[in-house]
Amino acid sequence: MSDWRKTLDDLAEAGLLREPITIEGCQGPRVRVGDRQVLCFCSNNYLGLAGHPALAEAAKGAIDEYGTSSGASRLVSGTMRLHRELEELVARFKRTDAAVVFPTGYMANVGTIQALVGRGDTVYCDRLNHASIFDGCRLSGATVRVYPHRDVGALCRLLRRKRRGRTLVVTDTVFSMDGDLAPRPELVEACEQHGARLMIDEAHATGVLGNNGRGAAEHFGVEGQIPVGMGTLSKAIGSLGGYVAGSRDLVGLLVNRARSFIYTTAPPPAVCAATIAGIRMVQQDRERRVALWERVKQLQTGLRKCGYNIGNCETHITPLMIGDSAEAVALSKKLFERDILAPAIRPPTVPEGTARIRLSPIATHTPSDIEALLEALG
Ligand SMILES: Cc1ncc(COP(=O)(O)O)c(C=O)c1O
Repeated sequence: MSDWRKTLDDLAEAGLLREPITIEGCQGPRVRVGDRQVLCFCSNNYLGLAGHPALAEAAKGAIDEYGTSSGASRLVSGTMRLHRELEELVARFKRTDAAVVFPTGYMANVGTIQALVGRGDTVYCDRLNHASIFDGCRLSGATVRVYPHRDVGALCRLLRRKRRGRTLVVTDTVFSMDGDLAPRPELVEACEQHGARLMIDEAHATGVLGNNGRGAAEHFGVEGQIPVGMGTLSKAIGSLGGYVAGSRDLVGLLVNRARSFIYTTAPPPAVCAATIAGIRMVQQDRERRVALWERVKQLQTGLRKCGYNIGNCETHITPLMIGDSAEAVALSKKLFERDILAPAIRPPTVPEGTARIRLSPIATHTPSDIEALLEALG
């Protein structure tokens, strides 16, 4: 048996083998899987913009005007008018002096951390941060200190220890698998006190949190106090890409040093145009956010009434905590039999023994969609 086959067999035996499901047609509250129409409760399309005609029209228009590819990396000849427009829009939206866009959020995290710290520096990382943050920390060559989840006291104790070089603290704002929030004002204070720079990942907060959808920094009233504000354009914004917003110096440094910005082809014009349309929708269509939060409340109240454990979730991301991987897979299969798509999330995405179903309602689900889910779970 080859070592590849053995690895796959071992994964299958442990209930950890994963295979992508193919979605036919458009992303939305309902999706087609094979010949079945199912309710989708697992996407990051939080505002339902991935299937919105305004974004599709913008992408089509950009293809007509600019073609399909940017043709080169950003620092060669790949920077097109739409990249500039998008970066200016992100900076205005995030209320920063400047912003830079990467092809994906994963690349934004990896490239940014690696550009900001290196050998001789120290980076502090919440234990439940996204994999792209961990990968960026490891790639950077800096000393990596992992602090217990959301524990600012423990972080401060680590920060008090003697260290050389530059110091960066990195945290998700909305934790992607638990739906809880980083203690933001306390983190800002801790970083200021200990001379550390704070980098936040607003992947699951942008478009969703704050009165104007600007994210957790707006929600907590700490905009302007965050040196490095990262986020994705692939979730609530309904498109693809990652951004970093901050000072002109920060953006200049990333343009010159972030390897995942420099050594890759620039995002295609159609993606930039769809993203611009998505951000404008977030700015103009507050009703979508209101609808999302109504569905979230309905779902979480119902789950609590049924006695489900939804951990410490404080946002739209709603984990049904199961524990055992095989049990989580069995529940997911049962839901699918009832026309509900919600795959099991298992290690290594989440820590050992904490398998779960990660439910994420979106703005375009109807109250009866949520009722159908609750009924299936009940
Ligand atoms: C917290 C967090 N950061 C970064 C990313 C990566 O973003 P993208 O999917 O745009 O590459 C994700 C994706 O799931 C995420 O959850």
